[in-house]
Amino acid sequence: MPVKYSDRILRIKPSATLSISAQAQSMKAAGKPVFSFGAGEPDFGSPASAIEAALDAIKRGETHYTLTNGIVELRQEVCHYYERRFGLKYEPAEVLVSSGAKPIIYEALQALVNPGDEVLLFAPAWVSYLEQIHLADGREAVVDTAKTGLTPTREAIEAALTNRTVGMIVNSPSNPTGAIYNEDTLRMIAGIAAKRDLWIIFDEIYERFTYAPAKHVNILNAAPEARDKTLLVNGASKAYAMTGWRIGYALGPKELISKMGAIQAHLTSNAASISQWAATGAVKSADADVDKMRDEFAKRRRVIVDLINAMPNVSTREPEGAFYVFMDVRNCPVPDDVEFCRRLLEEQMVAAVPGSAFISPGFVRFSYACSMDNIKEGMARLRKFVESL
Ligand SMILES: Cc1ncc(COP(=O)(O)O)c(C=O)c1O
Repeated sequence: MPVKYSDRILRIKPSATLSISAQAQSMKAAGKPVFSFGAGEPDFGSPASAIEAALDAIKRGETHYTLTNGIVELRQEVCHYYERRFGLKYEPAEVLVSSGAKPIIYEALQALVNPGDEVLLFAPAWVSYLEQIHLADGREAVVDTAKTGLTPTREAIEAALTNRTVGMIVNSPSNPTGAIYNEDTLRMIAGIAAKRDLWIIFDEIYERFTYAPAKHVNILNAAPEARDKTLLVNGASKAYAMTGWRIGYALGPKELISKMGAIQAHLTSNAASISQWAATGAVKSADADVDKMRDEFAKRRRVIVDLINAMPNVSTREPEGAFYVFMDVRNCPVPDDVEFCRRLLEEQMVAAVPGSAFISPGFVRFSYACSMDNIKEGMARLRKFVESL
């Protein structure tokens, strides 16, 4: 008898970014020199302030369940951070701490989406949004920004709305393109959301990584009146190079936060206690570490963008933030971006992620959160590969 699974799980595709990383890691384990551009994680160690706070917490015996929504100390520190960085006032009851930003977005969608409801996505869009909408039995309405400079237009958004639309996920700076939405765009998006009474999930997990003259804009700085229907999503993974600790946080209206907390209570309970203390240390005192990382990423960005744009048949737009380049491979004589990545890994041992994973076939994403040596050798191999096609 064939094994029966739910319709829900049969609709889910595995995370392409995680599976490319896994394939690259198993090639490495087999002794092959893989040049990896797959993973979306900084190659730096966690800040000393995080490690010290974690060690102190272990010694103090902070090894039990915490409040489901997170220790008050971390939620308070997140509030201080938002006030210091964006001038936004939140209180700990309006903050939820989870085991990463991934569960935050999952819980938000579970709290807001009924079966058949639609959520607007701006493509290219991060791989997990789509699957998490499906996990909530919702449907995506995709606004493609590829032809409009990676910024959605009012017309395109309005054309995608239906009477089933309940919200939108806005990601700036963007994974995978590094594009940043400016104040006018965010105000326009917030205006449409207000008119149609839609929720905005504003994922700003890369907000610390922007490259001059580009600047990150928080949607509530652009449109303060959107506060009651906006969930701000952030976390420790990217800014503090703390991916393995698994800490994400959200700030939003008390009622939504409490409903998301109710889901979390049945899912993971609290995020790991030690990790919460580590993140408290980082949010409080790791600003200098973040700036150092950002400066290093800026140098790598310059190198990788210039190397790619000097190659035949491929090109990339200058990313303004995050640590990715999204390379156009539509002029290459290969059937598609998935085949491009498969052959690049097999023939040159360079791991990158196909744009199809971001609802944008014809592109390939390279993460430059890796060493300069990896970038230089990996790009030399990429050049050999595109020249061989
Ligand atoms: C746009 C975006 N949002 C959220 C996340 C989730 O990060 P985490 O679950 O590690 O906090 C990622 C990670 O790749 C991301 O790229």
